[in-house]
Amino acid sequence: MLRKIDQLIDELDAWLRFHKKMGLEALPASPGVKSFISSTDNSLINAKDAFTKPPGSLEALQKAALECTRCRLHETRHNVVFGEGPANARLMLVGEAPGKEEDLTGRPFVGASGQLLTKMLNAIEIDRQEVFITSILKCRPPGNRAPKADEIRACMPILMTQIELIRPKLILALGNVAAHNLLNTKEGLKKLRGKFHSLNGIKLLVTYHPAYILRFAGQRQKALKIEAWNDLQLLQREYKKLEV
Ligand code: URA
Repeated sequence: MLRKIDQLIDELDAWLRFHKKMGLEALPASPGVKSFISSTDNSLINAKDAFTKPPGSLEALQKAALECTRCRLHETRHNVVFGEGPANARLMLVGEAPGKEEDLTGRPFVGASGQLLTKMLNAIEIDRQEVFITSILKCRPPGNRAPKADEIRACMPILMTQIELIRPKLILALGNVAAHNLLNTKEGLKKLRGKFHSLNGIKLLVTYHPAYILRFAGQRQKALKIEAWNDLQLLQREYKKLEV
């Protein structure tokens, strides 16, 4: 089948940009591509990156992630918290990084913020079991400190490959770290909340991280919960549309 070169260029361009956004610095090259590139730049083929060859299944990706030593956090972690949920989940939740309980159990969002997250989902009639829950970092930063830029860079390919494999219809980014790194922006949550963004065609909504909500008490916490509730209403509306 012949294809128009212009259309191929557009498709190839979109495909390469997607993988770049995924954090991949190199892709496996076919013999044809190799012979073409070898006359110009060998670095693409020679890059020795654990995720150069994107794993073809979630299980294979998890296996690779469990053995990951791409950043310093592997030295202090008890468990890699890969994430959990159906491999064909329509909704994916992305947090920041595992905390103490998550590190000890290997499961995402099982501590106090996880309990609030489960309540938030239940409030919009979504069962935790039907969504895929993960975070930007898969290993706990010691003492729950903020993730460092090089840790995020090292870990993003896992998340972006999860997204590529699961192909969710909706993503809920929980908090600044998730929103900034998925949308490649530094905008504040105030600006990012309340509307759907697009991550390679996937609708992405931003809301507060439950741990942030729990940092406050009284009226401030109540106000944040109301704002989060407004975000969740938007999410519920889109999620329900997927059922029809
Ligand atoms: N906070 C996160 O962002 N992720 C977890 O898995 C737990 C708490």
